[in-house]
Amino acid sequence: MKRDQSPVLPGGGATDYARYMRTDELLDLQRDPADMLHRDELLFQVVHQSAELWLKLAEAELAEAVARTTADDPQAAASLLERATLAVRLVTDQLEMFRHLSPVDFQAMQPALGNGSGAESPGWRRVATVSRQLGRAFTAHLATRGGRLGALDPTDPTRRLAEAMTAWDERVSQWRVRHYEVALRVGGHAPAGSPGSPATVLAKLIGHRFFPELRSARPDTDVPAATHSRTAQA
Ligand code: HEM
Repeated sequence: MKRDQSPVLPGGGATDYARYMRTDELLDLQRDPADMLHRDELLFQVVHQSAELWLKLAEAELAEAVARTTADDPQAAASLLERATLAVRLVTDQLEMFRHLSPVDFQAMQPALGNGSGAESPGWRRVATVSRQLGRAFTAHLATRGGRLGALDPTDPTRRLAEAMTAWDERVSQWRVRHYEVALRVGGHAPAGSPGSPATVLAKLIGHRFFPELRSARPDTDVPAATHSRTAQA
């Protein structure tokens, strides 16, 4: 028997799939081909817009991880953080699409972007803010567990959360490595160290960590009180 496919959900859209996923609105968010300076604007917008969606998910999972850490539930916090880490991996993989965007074609579309820059990405900004909150929540949580990571059993959930936080930091840095290469190749920027090149800032950020103390933590050492980054920008 054929499944009844007539929509039952409220709202616009020809099907329930369209109504729930808001596909009409979503697919209307890219520039009309008639207005484009270059047809690769679609490629450029799809990569950036989907990155913002994955970062929205990453932020939500990070925020819940902060709440679970504060509630002394490091096991749940670690699982949520692992989701956020996977989201950033997917955002990193998407940069591969820029292999198909030549510097000449990018230059042709640049007037369409105004003064816009990925540095203004709301998703990355919010993710950075919540990462710093996680650092503070973890410091407070660790204090309730005696303040010494190395004193805890290797299978302890607090140790698992610390490892998930290190993996998060590493994944964000890997995004920055790939992004640096894309900025150089597609944006045609001079390498780091060249006078006036934005690549210098990008290269420096590769070494940034939200939780630097965790990276250097060894079983026999204490994690200092401030496990969150002091770098304001990143
Ligand atoms: C063709 C693709 C891209 C080029 C050529 C490019 C280029 C650049 C450049 C030159 C900067 C340095 C600041 C500036 O001068 O504006 C920058 C920063 C930045 N871009 Fe991109 N970008 C690209 C794609 C992306 C994508 C897909 C994202 C994801 C949202 C993104 C996010 C950022 C962020 C967050 C920064 C601030 C630095 C940081 O936090 O690491 N960019 N980009």
